[in-house]
Parts: sequence; C-alpha cells; structure tokens
Amino acid sequence: MTSVAAVVKMVEHLSKAEQDPPVRYFFGQLAGLEPQLTDVTAAVLTRRPSVTDQHLAYLYYIALNYLTDFAYDRKVPTARLQRDLDRYRPKLVELCSTRYASTNVVERYAALQAVLGVLDRPRLTVVDVGTSIGLGLMSLNTDSFGHARIDPILRPYIDKHVDVTAAIGIDPQRPDMHWQAACYLPENKRNRRELKATYAKLKKEGTPVHLVQGNITDIEGTDLQQGTADVVWTSNVLYQVKGMASGVVRSIRWLLKDDGFWINADYRHQNKPFATRQNPWVTMTRNKRYWNKVYEVTEAPSDVVKALKRGRDFARFKSACAAAPASG
Ligand SMILES: C[S@@+](CC[C@H](N)C(=O)[O-])C[C@H]1O[C@@H](n2cnc3c(N)ncnc32)[C@H](O)[C@@H]1O
Repeated sequence: MTSVAAVVKMVEHLSKAEQDPPVRYFFGQLAGLEPQLTDVTAAVLTRRPSVTDQHLAYLYYIALNYLTDFAYDRKVPTARLQRDLDRYRPKLVELCSTRYASTNVVERYAALQAVLGVLDRPRLTVVDVGTSIGLGLMSLNTDSFGHARIDPILRPYIDKHVDVTAAIGIDPQRPDMHWQAACYLPENKRNRRELKATYAKLKKEGTPVHLVQGNITDIEGTDLQQGTADVVWTSNVLYQVKGMASGVVRSIRWLLKDDGFWINADYRHQNKPFATRQNPWVTMTRNKRYWNKVYEVTEAPSDVVKALKRGRDFARFKSACAAAPASG
C-alpha cells in the first residue's frame, strides 16, 4: 500500500533527480503545490492503493500532458499548473487510477528476436505480457531494428526469421495513441512524431498480433488457456507491479508449456527483486523445467537499446539449446 507521504516525497525527489528539464521543472512546481498534490493523491490512492509512488508521480505528468495536448513539454508557470489541477481534477484522478505509463520501444524486441533465433524452434506461440500497443511484437521477423548497433555474432540470429505461428500481446489498457504519445517525455518527442507512422507500417508489414486485455498477476482471468506459450516475454513491466512477485511468477508458469521459456528483459536484478538502472539491461532467460537456471543471453547499455551485444551466458545458452532441442 502506497502512502500519500511517499508520493509527495517521490515528487520532491524527482524535482531534483529527473533528467528531462521540463519534467524536472514540473515536479518542482508540483511539489510546491502540496495541498493540491495531497488532495489528488489521496483520491487516487483510495481507488488504486497499490500503484507505486514513482509510477504515480510520472502518471501525473503524463496525464496532464495528455489532457492539455502536450502543454507540459515546456516549463509551465505555477499558476497554470494550479489552474489545470483544479480544472482537470476529476479526469486526472480517473486517468491516474486506471492508466499505466507505457512506452513501446521496438529495439527492445531485437533482444527477443535474438533469443528466438538461438532457440530456433518450430511453430512458436509467443506471448508478450505488458505488450503496450503491441508495436514491439509486431516488429518480430521484420527489419525494424536498424537503429540498434548489433554485435556481429548476434546478427545472424536476429536476421533469421523464426517460425512464429501466434503472437499474443497482453496489457491491462486498450491501445490509445494519444495516451501512448503522451507517455513519451519531451526528450523523446521524435519518437512521438514517428509513432503513428511506425504503427501503420508494422500493422501492414509486421507480424500479426492478437491483443488481449489482461493483468500479469491474473492471466487465468483472460480467455487464454493454461500451457499456451512456448515463450513468454516481459520487458520493462515488473517495476510497475512491484510487491506482487509471487503472483507474477505463478501466472507466467501457468501460461508456459512444460518446456517453455520465460524471457524477462530489464535492468539486471543482482540481489534486488526488481531491476535498477545502475546495471545493464539484459534478457534473463529460463526454462520452465529448470526454473532456477537463468541465462543472460543479451546485454544492452540501457533500455533504449542503442546497442545490443551477447550476454555473459550467451555461449552456455546456445550449447544448452543444442543439447536439448525442442520436444515434439
Ligand atoms: C514500460 S511499458 C513496456 C512496454 C513494452 N513491453 C516495451 O518494452 O516496449 C510497460 C507496460 O506494462 C503494462 N503493464 C503495467 N502493469 C501491468 C500488469 N499488471 N499486467 C500486464 N501489463 C502491465 C503497461 O500498461 C505498459 O504498457
């Protein structure tokens, strides 16, 4: 359960720590309007007690940018913020109680493509949990990863088109392009402009995707069957469901076939239950039969994936796949 005090403290923290200047400025202004911040936060937490303090802080920024057609891309005077908090209060509470921060970075899926290439199994059902609008999943088996510098040893695995017979994306929120655009912070405005064009192109030329509304802690509540997936992919999702680790693992195991793989892409966990930005962004791959054996197959300096190289367990993973090919 998140407290109002924790959210106020997080907003204060982000007013110094956030990298993007207009966003940092926004958090500074919001921290200065503590009575309004406290009021809105109390209303949101009544409806959504488990949202994390950091997630909610960013939802305030995203929701206000969404409601004002991106006015908060620039530094906005305090009086304007004060007025918007009053004017949009009901919509702000509604959005922050029901929506999720959601960026969909196509280059992250180059890491999925690489692991699928090493697996090289026939007739794959791939389920992407926390798929956002499904853009990354649609980019499988296309030439969409041109922005990333790829390790030459990984290149053939990424270029190899794999046999995906079903690509299913699960996310709690329905696709909303304007919300999706608002989730890009000002420093990534370029991606915002490209979003619609990329979506249209991949819809036409990419891997066909079936989107399902659902929650990672309750996959059984969707119409998917137990043991559906050869591969479950999660990227940059677990930090949004902090504190629900056992529910996440139960759902993913339920969804996987007996010899299926879970690939979780995020900052390396090390001794922490969820990822931190001090570490590289890696694909942590495990088989349902050998759950405690985790292979880091790829590694990138950050989750923007400007470059992708072999992970520290790439060779061992390759040998393990060669020694135990797919059953059936
Ligand atoms: C940061 S985005 C990452 C999207 C995509 N996987 C990528 O890497 O580009 C996180 C996504 O997880 C979704 N999400 C948040 N909580 C979730 C939950 N409980 N179950 C499933 N998806 C969730 C959000 O709606 C959002 O689309």
